[in-house]
Amino acid sequence: MQKNAQRLRGSLTLPGDKSISHRALLLAALAQGRSVLHGLGTGDDVQRTAACLRQLGVQITQQADATHVASPGFAGWKTPEATLDCGNSGTTMRLLLGILAAHPDLTATLDGDASLRKRPMARVTGPLAAIGAVIASCEGRPPLTIVGQTLHGAIHDLPVASAQVKSALLLAGLFANGETVVHEPLQSRDHTERMLTALGVRLQREDNRHTIVGQGPRAVLPPLGDFHVPGDPSSAAFAIVAALLHADADVTVRHFSQNPTRIGFLNVLGRMGGHLQTREPSTLAGEPVADVRATSSQLIATDIAEGEVPSLIDELPILALAAATAAGTSHFCGLAELRVKESDRLAAVVRLLTCLGVPTQSGADWLTVVGMGESSRLRANAGAFVPGLDHRMAMTAAIANLVSPSALEIQGFAAAVGSSWPSFAADFLDLQNTAD
Ligand code: S3P
Repeated sequence: MQKNAQRLRGSLTLPGDKSISHRALLLAALAQGRSVLHGLGTGDDVQRTAACLRQLGVQITQQADATHVASPGFAGWKTPEATLDCGNSGTTMRLLLGILAAHPDLTATLDGDASLRKRPMARVTGPLAAIGAVIASCEGRPPLTIVGQTLHGAIHDLPVASAQVKSALLLAGLFANGETVVHEPLQSRDHTERMLTALGVRLQREDNRHTIVGQGPRAVLPPLGDFHVPGDPSSAAFAIVAALLHADADVTVRHFSQNPTRIGFLNVLGRMGGHLQTREPSTLAGEPVADVRATSSQLIATDIAEGEVPSLIDELPILALAAATAAGTSHFCGLAELRVKESDRLAAVVRLLTCLGVPTQSGADWLTVVGMGESSRLRANAGAFVPGLDHRMAMTAAIANLVSPSALEIQGFAAAVGSSWPSFAADFLDLQNTAD
């Protein structure tokens, strides 16, 4: 990945949204019949969901940009012969947990890489056990063996706002008997609700309470038909922040989801004084989409409150980098969930900013960043940054290198970014080479 770009110009079309791609594959596989998914996310995480579904008896083939899914329907899924390897993907594991727990004729083991093996699964297995699921784990962590059962409805009061947990419980509830209510403390991303409703499933929302009427384990969903996945706002955030922070930039990110549960980062960057223009609004697959143009900006510090964290949960590392270049001190609150992402991202952000010479303070769930005033003041004062198996930390470090004199070595960069955006380096090279 190149360092110290001279300038950033042009437009960028992103891989399909990762969250929607997982759900499109899963819902197409739960339905009986054929669906064609266009523009799925290209990263390894989405490939893991596809690979797990193939092991469960679903045919998935790729033809250029189109992913063809042919499924016997949920009731026709078969017990896989080998462990289902979810790789680095928490969404694959948590959503499949909810679904597989509700299949009375099926037994399966879910496992993942070293990062996923450290992540908490009891937040899903606990509520599932309460509705009749049988799941063995290693003290709440993978590997997890599910012996499918017929589940019953219940009221779930979630202690944390998590779309993965909400989605797992709604999907389990769809194939259970009786009514399921999922109450989340703050609204998390709502792609599952949008997509299920579009398929004709009865799902009600009142504030942050979601009610689904169970259809039993033999429920048959209609196929998705031709389904187009919008670009990923979580990837867009890297290009947009790069353009705002770079001294000579004018970048348009095309056609990505403007779902309000996902674009909290645009609100934050707007109040930091970022020059942003939203253009060409339209709708795709039940999601609002638009282009966003970002140009070089002098940012000012801001505060992020707990209430807005779910709408920007995956963008916090790159927003912390933006805060590091801003004039003034920024305070981020309500960050407890950052500790249980692909890495302990709060600790990783502090490590990265420290490598770049930026003063920070942090506690169990908060972060203070003392902005340097401009990106040219970011300088690597350590040789290497180790993102571990965390794609978003690797990409945040790469953007720091691109917009400043910093020349950090990012260990394991290519492998890490493969989870969500394998063409990250090539796409940014295009922005560096585009003429006015
Ligand atoms: C996701 C939800 C979020 C997010 C993750 C993807 C999803 O996790 O961080 O990258 O697709 O549902 P939580 O639901 O655990 O907050």
